[in-house]
Order: sequence, then C-alpha cells, then structure tokens
Amino acid sequence: MEQKTPLITQTCIHRSLVLALLFLAMSSSFNKVSGALSAVGVNYGRVADNLPPPAQVAQLLQSQGIGKVKLYDADPATLQAFGNTGIEMAVMAPDGLIPSFASDANQALSWVTANIVPFIPATKIGVIMVGNEVLTRSDPAFTPLLVPAMWNLHTALIRLDLYQTIKITTPHAMDVLDLGTSYPPSSCTFKSSLASSVIHPLLDFHKDTGSPFMVDAYPFFAYRDDKGEHIPLDYALGGPTAVGFTDFRTGLHYTSLLDAQLDAVYAAMAKLNHSDVGIVLAETGWPSAGNATSEPGSTLNNAAEFNGNLVKRILSNPPLGTPLRPAFPIEAYIFEIFNENQKYSLSERSFGLFYPDMTPVYNIKFTN
Ligand SMILES: *[C@@H]1O[C@H](CO)[C@@H](O)[C@H](O)[C@H]1NC(C)=O
Ligand SMILES: *[C@@H]1O[C@H](CO)[C@@H](O)[C@H](O)[C@H]1NC(C)=O
Repeated sequence: MEQKTPLITQTCIHRSLVLALLFLAMSSSFNKVSGALSAVGVNYGRVADNLPPPAQVAQLLQSQGIGKVKLYDADPATLQAFGNTGIEMAVMAPDGLIPSFASDANQALSWVTANIVPFIPATKIGVIMVGNEVLTRSDPAFTPLLVPAMWNLHTALIRLDLYQTIKITTPHAMDVLDLGTSYPPSSCTFKSSLASSVIHPLLDFHKDTGSPFMVDAYPFFAYRDDKGEHIPLDYALGGPTAVGFTDFRTGLHYTSLLDAQLDAVYAAMAKLNHSDVGIVLAETGWPSAGNATSEPGSTLNNAAEFNGNLVKRILSNPPLGTPLRPAFPIEAYIFEIFNENQKYSLSERSFGLFYPDMTPVYNIKFTN
C-alpha cells in the first residue's frame, strides 16, 4: 500500500441438481478447479521476505473461496501459479511504461502480447491496471499521459480480441478529490487541477469501454487521524448498528464511513456528468495491530469487524450498493492477503488476513 491520505470526510459513506452434477464432473476433470469462489477480492502485496510461494497462495485462496486477486505487478511466475484456479486476476503495468504506452500503440500491444497473452485462458485475467495512484503519487509528467496510455492498451485488447474479457482501469488515492469539499459526501468534487483535464476524459474512457473507476479508500486512516473527535468507531467499522449521520443536502443516511467515502466519489463523478460509471474499491482494509497511542483503532477485533462487515456486504443477496448508488453493488479488493514484514510501521505491517505461515489472523468466511 502506498502512503494514504486520510481525510476524506467524516462523511465523505431441480435444474440445480443437474448443474451441481455437471459441476462435479467438471471439477474432477480439472484437479485445481474448486467449488464456489465468491466475488470477494484481495490484494497480494509482497513487501516482505517471508511469504510462501505463489502456488501455495493460490491454493490458500481457493480453499477460502476467494475469487479475485489484485497484483501490484504482472509477475509471470504468479500468473502461471494461478492458472486453472478460476481465480480472477487484476494485473498491474508499472507506472514507468505510461509514456511509451501513450506515445506508441505498438508498445501497448507488445506489452499485452508479452505479459498477458501467454497466460490466458488458463489464468483468468479480468483487469489490467495502468500504474498505481498515478495522478497523486507518480511523476506529474505522467498525468496527461494516463488516459492516452489506457486507450492504447484498450486498442491492443481489441486487436487481440480480448476486450470483452479484460478491462483497463487504474487505481486512485482518495486525494484525487478536493478534500475541502468532502463534507457532506454529496458536495464532493474532484480536485480542480485534475477534474476537466484528466478525470473527465478518464470517465469517458470508463463509460465507453465498460470498465470501472478504481479507488483506494480507508476508513481506518480517517478514524486514526480524527483522534476520536467526530468519527465514532462503529461508523468507521461500518457495523449495521452504527447511528451514523444524514447528508443534509440529499437526506441520505449513512451508517458506514466507507459508504460515505464511495458516495463522495460518486457525487464528484456525477458533477462531471458521469453517473453511468461504477466504482471498484481497489484497496480497503483495517490493521489488526498498531501503536495504540498514535494509531488508535488498530486492533485485531476492529480489523475482524471491518473486514467481516465488508465481506457480508459483498456477499449479500440481493447485492447492496451505497445510499446514493444502490444499484451498483459494492465490489472490493481487501488490503491484503498477508502481513508484509518490510513495511515501515506496525500498522502498515498488519493489514493481512493471514500470517505468512498461512494461518488466519482472524476468522472470516469468504463464501456463503
Ligand atoms: C453536464 O451536462 C450539462 C447538460 O448537458 C452541461 O450543461 C454541463 O456543462 C455538463 N458538465 C460537464 C462538466 O461537462
Ligand atoms: C507509539 O507512538 C507514540 C506517539 O507517537 C510514540 O511516542 C511511541 O514511541 C510509539 N511506540 C512505539 C512502540 O513505537
């Protein structure tokens, strides 16, 4: 995970038998294809020197029914290891390639041909992300190149006839929003330096290609930095019994800070005339340990509750969106599979759902 800008808003919240038999027959013919994989996604961060090999990780996730994994690279050994698992991969192209993707469609085509094509269809690759938090964290020279790079990658997918199964997107930090406008969520706008120049054409891209806007949102950081002044813990954890608050402009009621954060982004998108693009949470999570003084809330129980509430939302039937966009179900990649022992602070090292020996940090059921 990269450095997170916390703020965002206190607010800113009998046929079946035949099918079952068919499925049994299929699973016995592919030994690695497992039963039910859910829509729950996880981030596979690897700033660590003690993690198990990717093939073991693939088995762990299959055994847990976790259906989606997001990488911070396009590591060939990892893509190979997830072959025939049915787990959908979100793969990242490095920021540094953005200028060549943007200026030369053949570079985009070569990258997809070399890094994606060899692994499909055995490995299910559903998403290619172009860099990570490029608009707020990378070389500012990349900012105007991001959307052209994404178009050239999409064009490469068209040429390779992969555009229906693979979507191009890019994750953003919450500080693409103008945090001064973040209360209440309905008042949110994108930073004026980015809104019309980059975000608007980016949303056009998402609309035209049917791909989602990706954002990293962490109620934990907002709670931590608030120091107990405005944000109640139950609201930050998104528990069903939180009192929450009402957006005085829309009358919409929020019991979850994560919903308010998502709706802040939806509201900002609506101001650019794009209520037609969905959001996927590229990262969200809660640390199970941290410095009790400087990182309040970083406890095992809170981590189990936040991620447990999130998973229940993702698995809910019918799917539940946010108060502003009830028809867009929450899609998320939890940050993250493992604790990463080479991160710089105790809480940053403690976002994992599992220890490196693959035992769970706390128990969550990832399938119904
Ligand atoms: C949104 O659409 C309205 C009505 O067509 C238009 O007046 C307005 O300029 C548009 N806003 C943006 C940011 O494109
Ligand atoms: C915890 O944070 C406080 C306040 O920043 C600091 O003084 C203390 O040294 C930290 N404790 C540890 C174990 O890092």
